[in-house]
This record gives sequence, C-alpha cells and structure tokens, in this order.
Amino acid sequence: MIPVLPFFMRSREMKVGALALGAFLSGILFIVLAGCESKGDRLFWNNRCKECHTINGKGGSSGPNLTYVGGKRSRDYIVQQIKDPKSHNPNTDMPSFRDKLSDQEINDLADYLSGLK
Ligand code: HEC
Repeated sequence: MIPVLPFFMRSREMKVGALALGAFLSGILFIVLAGCESKGDRLFWNNRCKECHTINGKGGSSGPNLTYVGGKRSRDYIVQQIKDPKSHNPNTDMPSFRDKLSDQEINDLADYLSGLK
C-alpha cells in the first residue's frame, strides 16, 4: 500500500491529515444515514400515533406501548396494523392511516417501529 502512495503522501503529516479527513467524512456520512433512519421516528411524532402510543416513556397510553414492538410484531404485521387496524381487531380504537399516509411513509414508519426491540 505505502509504495503506491505518491511521495508527498508518505510524510507523517500527510498521513495524519488523510486520517483526519477520513474520520471527518465518515462523521458526515454517519449523520446523513442517521438522518435518513429517523424518518419513521419523525412520522410517528408528527402524526396522531403519539396521542395513543408511548415510545421510550413519551406519548399517550390508550394504545399499547410501542417501545419494544419490533420484538413482538413482524414488520408485515405493523404495516397491516397501520393500513387496516380493523383486520386485527374489528373493535379497535386505532384509525386506519391508509388514506392519510403514503405507502412510502407507512414503510418508513414500519422500518422504524420494527427496529424497536
Ligand atoms: C386513537 C388511538 C390510536 C392512534 C391515533 C394510533 N393507534 Fe396504534 N393502536 C391503538 C390501539 C388501541 C391499538 C391496540 C390494537 C387493538 O385495538 O386491538 C393499537 C395498536 C397498534 C400497533 C400494534 C401494537 C401491538 O403491540 O400489537 C401498532 C404497531 C400501532 N398501533 C401503530 C400505530 C401508528 C404507527 C400510529 C400512527 C400512524 C398509530 N398506531 C395511531 C390506538 C391508536
């Protein structure tokens, strides 16, 4: 590896600089990916979900606590629950979000919730 580096890259300062740059770019990548991952998180708190469900001690309590829902329910179950809660319990108080959220938003929510274990 070292012999293919141009001469100037072999100096100690340049190696330290390259490492620092690498760490900096990894940090940016991490922040971008973390931002993408929290889309479902935002959807949860920006929709009515929080009125009935608690996650990590915040939210309402008329519906089940979702803090560990990913360990209990499959992703498919969660998608189905958001689109058509009556299919799981005909007398449920949870409204359908099929017409309120796009398929993409429902997928993002399901990704987020199924990761809560
Ligand atoms: C008006 C209250 C209410 C709202 C608003 C609501 N839910 Fe629910 N939710 C419930 C109730 C009650 C249940 C329990 C299922 C039943 O009725 O048998 C439930 C069940 C669930 C379950 C299954 C949990 C389990 O342990 O089986 C998930 C997942 C869920 N809701 C997600 C959501 C999401 C995501 C939103 C927002 C898009 C939302 N809920 C909005 C009341 C609500």
